[in-house]
Amino acid sequence: MIKRIAVLTTGGDAPGMNAAIRGVVRYGTYKKLEVMGVFRGWWGLINEELKPFDHRSVSGIINQGGTILKTMRCHEFQTKEGQERAYATIKKHAIDGLVVIGGNGSFSAAHAFSKAYKIPCVGIAASIDNDINGIDMTIGWDTAINTALNAIDNIRDTATSMERIFVVEVMGRECGSIALAVALAAGCEDVIIPERKPDMAKICHDIVNGNVKGKISWIIVVAEGAGSAPDIAKKIAEMTNLETRALVLGHIQRGGRPTALSRDIALNLSRTAIDCLLAEQGNRAVGIVAGKVACVDLEKTLLKKETDIEAAYNLIKVMS
Ligand code: F6P
Repeated sequence: MIKRIAVLTTGGDAPGMNAAIRGVVRYGTYKKLEVMGVFRGWWGLINEELKPFDHRSVSGIINQGGTILKTMRCHEFQTKEGQERAYATIKKHAIDGLVVIGGNGSFSAAHAFSKAYKIPCVGIAASIDNDINGIDMTIGWDTAINTALNAIDNIRDTATSMERIFVVEVMGRECGSIALAVALAAGCEDVIIPERKPDMAKICHDIVNGNVKGKISWIIVVAEGAGSAPDIAKKIAEMTNLETRALVLGHIQRGGRPTALSRDIALNLSRTAIDCLLAEQGNRAVGIVAGKVACVDLEKTLLKKETDIEAAYNLIKVMS
C-alpha cells in the first residue's frame, strides 16, 4: 500500500516542470498521500536532500519556468554504489513510490532503478526536445517552440528589411523536433536536423536561384546536433557570395513562463501519475498520446522515437 511518495526533477529542465511538481503535491495530498520533495534529482536521493512538501510548499510556482526542486545530470546514479545509497534514503524515509519528472535519460535511470530495487516509479514526460518514444507531447515543448518562434519572427523583420540570409540554431542535440516545428511555424526556407543529412549544394543552389528571381531574405533553422549556425552561415556565405548572419538561441529556449498548454499538460499528467502509483502500476510513464493523457510502459519509452521526418521536411519546403 502506497502512503508516502517522493517527487524529483532530473535532466534538462523544461518549462512546466514547476506546474507538474505542484500537481503531484496537490493531487497527492488530496489523495491522502505524504509527498516528499527531492532536491537536484537523483543526486538528492543519493545525498538525502529531501523534505516533506505540503499544499503551501508549491504556492506561486505554476507560472514559473525552471524547477524549484533543481535538477542535474547525475553520473553517480549510474553506478551500483550510487543506486544503493539512493535506495538507502528511500528505505530510511519509508518512501513507497517515486514520481520522476524528466526526459528519456531520466526515464532510463528510473526504469533501471525500479527494476533493480522493486520500487514503483512513474515518469512524467517533461523535455523541451519532445523525443520520448511512445509519447507525442511532453511538458515544455510547446513553450520552447514558442520561445524560439518569437525570436525567429523578430529575425524575420530584420532579415526582410536588410535582405539577408540568417542561420538560426535551436536546441536538439539528437533530434530535430524543435527545429522542424519552428521552421514550419515561422515559414522558414530550410531546416537542417541531425536525422537528415543536409545537401548544402542544393540549399545554396536554391538560395542563388531565388536571389536571381528577386528573393533575397532567407531563414534556415539548424538543430544544434546537426551543426553550428556560425559554421553553416560561413559555408553559405562562401558558396553563395551573399551576406549571411548566424544566431544561436541556446538555453533561452529552456526558460520562461510556461504556456497554458505546457501547464495544462503538467497538471493533467501529474494527476495520472499519482493515480498510477495508487493503482500499484509502477514502471510507467505518463504523457500526451493522440491528444489525450496516456500511461505507457516505461520500457517502451527507452526505444528511439521514430517520426516521419521526410513528411515534415517536405511540408516546410512546400510552404516556404
Ligand atoms: O533538455 C534537452 C536539451 O535542451 C538538448 O536539446 C540540449 O542539447 C541539451 O539539453 C543541452 O544540455 P545542457 O544544458 O547540459 O547544455
